[in-house]
This record gives sequence, C-alpha cells and structure tokens, in this order.
Amino acid sequence: MTAKLSQPVDTRIAKIDSSFEGKLVRLRGWVYKRRDIGGAAFIILRDGSGLIQVAFKRGSLPPEQYETVRRVGLESSCEVTGVVKSDPRAPGGLEVHAVSFRLVGDCKDYPIAKKKHGVEFLLDHRHLWIRSPKVAAVLRVRAELLKAAREWFEAHDYIEVTAPSIVTAAVEGGATLFELEYFGRKAYLTQSSQFYLEAAIFSLGRAYTIQPSFRAEKSRTRRHLTEFTHMEGEAAFMDLNQLMIELEDLVSYMCREVVERRKRELEELGRRFTPPEPPFPRISYDEAIEIAQSKGVPIEWGEDLSTESERAVSSEFEKPVLVHRYPREVKAFYHKPDPENPKVVLCTDMLAPEDTGEIIGGGQRIHDYQELVKRIEECGLDVEDYEWYLDLRRYGSVPHSGFGLGVERVVKWICGLSHVREATLIPRTPVRVYP
Ligand code: 4AD
Ligand code: MG
Repeated sequence: MTAKLSQPVDTRIAKIDSSFEGKLVRLRGWVYKRRDIGGAAFIILRDGSGLIQVAFKRGSLPPEQYETVRRVGLESSCEVTGVVKSDPRAPGGLEVHAVSFRLVGDCKDYPIAKKKHGVEFLLDHRHLWIRSPKVAAVLRVRAELLKAAREWFEAHDYIEVTAPSIVTAAVEGGATLFELEYFGRKAYLTQSSQFYLEAAIFSLGRAYTIQPSFRAEKSRTRRHLTEFTHMEGEAAFMDLNQLMIELEDLVSYMCREVVERRKRELEELGRRFTPPEPPFPRISYDEAIEIAQSKGVPIEWGEDLSTESERAVSSEFEKPVLVHRYPREVKAFYHKPDPENPKVVLCTDMLAPEDTGEIIGGGQRIHDYQELVKRIEECGLDVEDYEWYLDLRRYGSVPHSGFGLGVERVVKWICGLSHVREATLIPRTPVRVYP
C-alpha cells in the first residue's frame, strides 16, 4: 500500500471527510469505547472535535501494540495512525484502519461508567463528567451563543469592557452579597457590572460585558447559581422602548445563529428548538398580574412575580415575553419611575417559554441627580456608598438604559436542560464549591 509509505497527516476528527479516503492520518485523543472481537479490535476515538471508529486488525500493526489495544482502558489517551476508509457500517460512514497505536496516558477504572449514575455522583465528578459527548455538546452550544452575542454587540456598536468583580456596594440590594475581607476593610463580590457599564457609556456611548456575577442565593432552584455568567449591555440616549427592541433582536439573533451553527450538538442532545423571531409579545406588569390571577395563582398587585406567576404568564406565549413596568417597590433603586404613572418603573423582564422563567432583567435608569439621591434614601441605602455613581448624574448626565442576561438560563432553555448547573463548565451552587 502506497499510503503506508507516505507521512501521516496530523488532523482532528471533525476535519475528516470523504476527501480523506485512502489517506494516512495521525489522530490524538481518548478511548471512548472499545470492542474486541477475535482477530480485530475496535476503538471509538474521541478527540474533542468528534468521534471516529478505529479498526485494529491483528497483523496490521506490531503484535505488542495490538495487545495493548485489546486491554486499553476507557478514557486512556493515545495516538493512532491509520488509513481512512469508507465503511457504511461505521458511524459517520468513515473509519480508520490502524497501522500503529501508541498509549499516551493510561487510564484504569474510570469512575464514570457507561451505566446510569445519580446526578449527585456526576456533579461530584463534574471535572470528568464534562468529557461526555452530551456535556461537550452543551459547552459548544454555550460557546456559540457567546460568540453570536459578541457579533451582535459589535454590529450594534457596543464596546466590550471588563469591570471589577470586587466592589464596595450593592447593585441589586444587600441580601445576596458575598462579603469578603479586603485588606482590613469590607468588600463584596459583585452582583452585576451595571454601574460600571453606566460609567463606561459616558466614554464609549454603548458598552457590554460578559463576566461572572455573584449572588449569595440560598434558594435551591433550577435557575439559580451562586456564580453565573452575566451578559450585560448599557446604552446612552436609549429609552425603555428602544431597549425592548434591542433585547428581542439580541435574543432572536443568538438563538437563530446557535441553531444554525450547532445542529449536530442539538441533535446529540435530542433537542428540537425553534428560534423565536421578533416581535416578541409585550405586556405590562398589570396585565401579567391579571393573567396569573385568572389562572388561580395567589398574587396581588404590588408583589414581585413569583415563579408560579411567571409560569402562568409565559405559558400563554410561544415566544419569550417582555413584561414591563413593575411596581417600584419590587425593583432596585436605580430604575426610572414612569412619568405617566410613578407607581411603576420603566423596567422590563424577559420571560422565556418552557418554564425557563426570567432570562433578562433591564430598563431605563434614573438620570436626574436629585431624583436618584431621593430614591437611594427612600430605599434606606447610604448615599455615601454611591458617590461615584452619583457623579455620572452630576457631569453631563443622559437618559440611558441597559440590561443583564443570565447566560446559563438561556443555554438551559436552548438545550432543553433541567437545571442551570448543567449549562456551565463547573457550577457553583449553595451546596457545591467542589470540584
Ligand atoms: O434581574 P437581575 O438581578 O438584574 C441585574 O442584575 C441588573 N443589574 C442587570 C442590568 O440591568 N445590567 O439579573 C439579570 C439576569 C436575570 O434575568 C437572570 O437571567 C440572571 O441575570 N440571574 C441569574 N442567573 C443564574 N443564577 C442567579 N442566581 C441569577 N441571578 C440573576
Ligand atoms: Mg431580575
């Protein structure tokens, strides 16, 4: 065979297509599955880009290498050289006929077997569990989502910044702050980069960030992490209406691109997802309360929307719904009261279908200095803690709006996962800071 005489081509599994037929390739990866039938052994090789079957025929490679293959443990890492052949019986229609096998890192007794494990066991071994094709598919979807988001931000003139995670005051109220000792003074892990984005827009006009936010949320729900990836945007001279248009555009763009570019991964997850197209329905908080009440949810005007109310509302729509103008009491101090009805603020939450709940919170900010001071005081906060933030209203203030989107919640929705902890590499929850 001429192929054996030539130099092997180093490649990754995903790159191999019919144009590789007859070529000698060298692959590096991990043993995903192994099968031994008298006279031949088969490995499904995994290299992070894909899976391919490798056939080892006795006599086609040195005998000691053949024996190693027959006994190799799952998840051992290895280097395989062989010829690409078409074979209708092979998954994907192509397989590699090996001429050599080199063990790189031996693996014995891999803790995650092919059998079913409980979710707690899997979470204890999350650092290994992430090797499974399903988790890898989620991670790829997530990466594509972030990529699409960055494209959208760029196309809409937002500049990416990174804000500090160590801060001295609450953005979203004190209850969920993680406190830390900072060289003899108190500091906190940030709940949101919003205030720094508000500062950034005076420099850049529009700014965004994708970075962790922290919430000491004791609530053990399917949608709360203590550390989550927060995608936040802020724009000068933008009102609530324009913001809602931006949000539906961003969400539909991300969904459309992910579904288009990650078909294989969504298939791997068994997920059929139809990207929502604009316009998304918009309803006021008042209407949301009516809907919830009409479905028997115990809720009164003035209360924040409970999970049950959100479920009642979002199940009315096939697309995400933008709920706007919540009572000022249930929202943070910085929200701008509606000039037409100061009992409510110019905010919006986006609730996604399939019991996903809130994926975005945002709105128009108070841009008047006096009004903001008044609200800080009314909320029982210390004006001194917000001096730098008030400077933004002292020096050339502008009407502006912004939002925060929970990346894991959107990934959970698109992938059809049961819990946000599966939407991130290594999750942090109230009961889990290991691994
Ligand atoms: O609604 P939130 O609390 O809004 C803010 O933090 C604003 N300062 C954002 C802004 O306007 N720049 O959080 C925004 C989003 C929520 O809609 C949710 O998707 C996500 O962040 N989120 C969480 N995701 C996972 N775990 C948690 N504990 C989360 N808390 C909020
Ligand atoms: Mg919120």
